Amino acid sequence: MKGLILSGGKGTRLRPLTFTSAKQLIPLANKPVLFRVIQAIRDAGIKEIGIVIAPETGAEIKSVVGDGSRWDARITYILQDEPRGLAHAVKISRDFLGDSRFVMFLGDNCIEGGIHRLIEQYAASDYNSQIVLTRVADPRQYGVAVLRPDGSIDRLVEKPKDPPSDLALVGVYMFDRHVFEAVEAIQPSWRNELEITDAIQWLVTHGYRVYPYVHTGWWVDTGKREDMLEANALVLEELVPRCEGEVDAHSVVDSRVTLERGARIVNSVVRGPTIIGENAQIINSYVGPFTSIDRDCVIENAEIERSIVLEGCRIEHIPARIHDSLIGRRSVITHAAAKPSGYRLLLGDYSQAGLL
Ligand code: DAU
Repeated sequence: MKGLILSGGKGTRLRPLTFTSAKQLIPLANKPVLFRVIQAIRDAGIKEIGIVIAPETGAEIKSVVGDGSRWDARITYILQDEPRGLAHAVKISRDFLGDSRFVMFLGDNCIEGGIHRLIEQYAASDYNSQIVLTRVADPRQYGVAVLRPDGSIDRLVEKPKDPPSDLALVGVYMFDRHVFEAVEAIQPSWRNELEITDAIQWLVTHGYRVYPYVHTGWWVDTGKREDMLEANALVLEELVPRCEGEVDAHSVVDSRVTLERGARIVNSVVRGPTIIGENAQIINSYVGPFTSIDRDCVIENAEIERSIVLEGCRIEHIPARIHDSLIGRRSVITHAAAKPSGYRLLLGDYSQAGLL
């Protein structure tokens, strides 16, 4: 069995962060989403992993992920020239996949509890494909499945306006070689993509055995800021806290806080679940629950909660609490003392600022 991770695409909903970095590398609890995906596949016993990358962000992904030896895995990179759809990504991965059965995992998805049970079930079955589904409140933004009375898949619709069920397709799919017949046969959709839902529908229509695996834990597609914050909170809750940093006598740091190597807390209050990255400094500040502060950040005379702050940021002398924010690498947020008073901003294209 092989693994295929889709880590291409443009990540437009996470601009401006995705102008300079891949969305799959945005960290949750200071670790890229993509690392969690690789780990989940590796924990299921799969060592041969292909990663589909885009021309704009492929080099960064390669340099951060490397050859896979960190996970005792072998990673092959597959370049997709344009985001022509999930089924197109399968099509161009044919040389890598050969005749193996494989698990395809979307590189921006975050799922509770790993995928080993699913892999075991599929390996023991004679299914041609098995797809992970979960019940959601609003299925309109996902692929949606309808089941037959015998439990197999009857029908799939991509992002329906009027969903026929509440069973959404989670970004984890199992296939055998018959999927290549399907991806060759289907046509691009209205959004000009080769849809994986159409390929699976093709398998169903042509009599192949396609079954669901219903996931009951949490799952987040981290495509937007709010989803990233939600996933960050869930991952932080799972983290086993550790303290490799320093806390001075004037600070209060609760037991659900992780301090990475060299982190320093001075005259501050930090409430978990929260992680403070390597060599970050929190001075005269409050860091509230569900916050990830990445390496080399300085937070001084400021308050922040339920946020993700990427490496090397400086947040200093801020009179109001920052919350529900996603702050890109090496950003500087500081109090403007000079007149005229007011907000002074230097924001990248497509930035969002919520001001008082
Ligand atoms: O997250 C689950 C949903 O993922 C499913 O319910 C949908 O059926 C499925 O189509 C997909 O929808 P999204 O619109 O969320 O897919 P997105 O464009 O965000 O792409 C998912 C991942 O695949 C992301 O890591 C980028 C990568 N990708 C995407 C495309 C379109 C590629 O590598 N190549 C591509 O051509």
